[in-house]
Amino acid sequence: DAAPLARAESLIRSIPDYPEPGIVFRDITPLLADAAALGEVIDALIAPFAGRFDVVAGIEARGFLLAGAIATRAEVGLVPIRKAGKLPRPAASVSYALEYATATIEAHDDLPEGARVLLVDDVLATGGTLVAGHQIVRSLGGEVVGSAVLLEIAALGGRAATGDVHAVFTV
Ligand code: PRP
Ligand code: MG
Repeated sequence: DAAPLARAESLIRSIPDYPEPGIVFRDITPLLADAAALGEVIDALIAPFAGRFDVVAGIEARGFLLAGAIATRAEVGLVPIRKAGKLPRPAASVSYALEYATATIEAHDDLPEGARVLLVDDVLATGGTLVAGHQIVRSLGGEVVGSAVLLEIAALGGRAATGDVHAVFTV
């Protein structure tokens, strides 16, 4: 039944001209606040990978929200991939390009040996964040079994950089 997912998608709020003129910000907070919608999208994020991952890695900040819910639903562990400077003992650090700057993400080395990892974030835009997330997981010795996002912004072409990504919704 596609209706519950369509309803969940309708709860993503589009905010024009945020954070700057010409940008449409996709706000997932109304969806997160709705119990049925949240449950639907968490199940949809997991579905293609069910039983095939041992750990979910979520990318700060909004990826954390989805990863926490996925971890408890799928009964797997969680590794947070954080923005630089937040972790006391980062074992992996990867920098990536933003439109006018660079960003760095880091993680601790808490992956079990040979862990099968599902990488999760809220949005796929240019793909830089997800590619960096892949690099972090691999440098920690994890095997990325897949990547999942709630929303892909197709016009930004991120998929060309990331390769296959499971997107629950696409605009
Ligand atoms: C946003 C979004 C993704 C990323 C996607 O995060 O949450 O993580 O951009 O963009 P990309 O595909 O072009 O890399 P942002 O860096 O704004 O930080 P936040 O999640 O902490 O708000
Ligand atoms: Mg983000």
